Amino acid sequence: MNSPSSSSPTALRTTGQQLRRRSWAEPWKIKMVEPIKLTTAEQRTAAMRAAGYNTFLLRSEDVYIDLLTDSGTSAMSDWQWAGLMLGDEAYAGSKNYYHLEEAVSRHYGYKHLIPTHQGRGAEHILSQIMIRPGDTVPGNMYFTTTRFHQEHAGATFVDVVIDEGHDPASPHPFKGNVDLAKLERVLTTAKHVPYACLAATVNMAGGQPVSMANAHAVHELCARHSVPVMMDATRAVENAWFIKCREPGYAEKTCAEILREFCSYTDGCTMSGKKDALVNIGGWLSLNDDALAEKARNLVVVFEGLHTYGGMAGRDMEAMARGIEESVQDDHMRARVGQVEYLGELLLAAGVPIVAPIGGHAIYLDARRFYPDMPQDNFPAQTLASELYLDAGVRAMERGIVSAGRDAKTGQNHHPKLELVRLTIPRRVYTQAHMDVVAESVEAVFQQTKKPRGLRMVYEPEYLRFFQARFEPI
Ligand code: F0G
Repeated sequence: MNSPSSSSPTALRTTGQQLRRRSWAEPWKIKMVEPIKLTTAEQRTAAMRAAGYNTFLLRSEDVYIDLLTDSGTSAMSDWQWAGLMLGDEAYAGSKNYYHLEEAVSRHYGYKHLIPTHQGRGAEHILSQIMIRPGDTVPGNMYFTTTRFHQEHAGATFVDVVIDEGHDPASPHPFKGNVDLAKLERVLTTAKHVPYACLAATVNMAGGQPVSMANAHAVHELCARHSVPVMMDATRAVENAWFIKCREPGYAEKTCAEILREFCSYTDGCTMSGKKDALVNIGGWLSLNDDALAEKARNLVVVFEGLHTYGGMAGRDMEAMARGIEESVQDDHMRARVGQVEYLGELLLAAGVPIVAPIGGHAIYLDARRFYPDMPQDNFPAQTLASELYLDAGVRAMERGIVSAGRDAKTGQNHHPKLELVRLTIPRRVYTQAHMDVVAESVEAVFQQTKKPRGLRMVYEPEYLRFFQARFEPI
């Protein structure tokens, strides 16, 4: 595929010690294709109007290149598809559950596995068994569904990510790190902290990683206060890849080894298998504590399904067990993160303002710098996402004031520092040529001379409004 950047371990050293650039390609070839269609500008204008200027409400048939999310959009391998045929659909004790348990135990290292239909199912169970009204949960930046379930269970979320995490221009290599002083303040002043939440990587900061040293320090600090650390492991393998590339002492370790060490600094995790684990549906909750796992196994029956399927078919669990094995391979991660880097470097070369350093699963466009004169209350990122669709049929996602929602107590809009549009790359789905088309479209929108004035929200749902809100142009 593309040529690696100097930070990539794929760069080959010649005997003369000079860095010789060598192209590399994905460790797979294509066996089956799914047609996508180019639309006309008129068709896109009509589709966007019908969707209330919200890319979540477009029909996927009307999308040319779909970068809405990397969630559940990966291409499975032939080995995973073969696994689907081996689904053991017994109500209880499916053999696929035990395969999944083995894979999670081997690569993540936790003692107990409670399967769920996807990540938010695990977040719900964890929040319900650990949080009491009035609790405080610190975390390295919020994620929409995670914070929702914490608040729904009665907790207040406190952001303890380092300040650089909120600065789209900061070159810090681990912008997902926890600010230990901020965390300690919460641990010493809050009435009760049921657990600290450690997301790796941090989605809302731009897919930014957490260093191994930071995870270790968070664990030590929390242990001193007898507070467990619960990881959001959704993109923890991508996090491991960044540790390999950026943290001294890890270049020679494999992703799998790094992942195991990282998990060892946490006491459990929630997981959306729809990302790292290369499946279209599935998730899990892992816990090391026996008593807590018993509670989770009891509650999962009520909300998801019996504790040996948790809302998944046997075949889904088999596909996820196999996806985990594939996801921790260095060659896979090199191509996965390498493709994101390729798109990011094209945009940087064109002078487009993006969040730096380039993250693991997506490129984040800095909408404030596309529309410097637009007030945040006119939804610059939402506007940019709709302009991108109108230009060439590329679907992206708002990650700014709409996603941030309202303060649960005051009802006021959160005004996040980051007003971003996310171009999220599905795993093993698009080619380098697709990335070229996307880069050209983004550049064209950035260069627009007649800038839009923004949007007004005409319908706002009560929960997680970004999914279903509707807008009109101002
Ligand atoms: N945690 C993180 C960091 C996520 O990115 C997501 C989902 C979840 C938890 C919830 O998992 O969707 O399986 O219930 N993120 C998707 C996205 C929706 O587009 O970023 P889920």
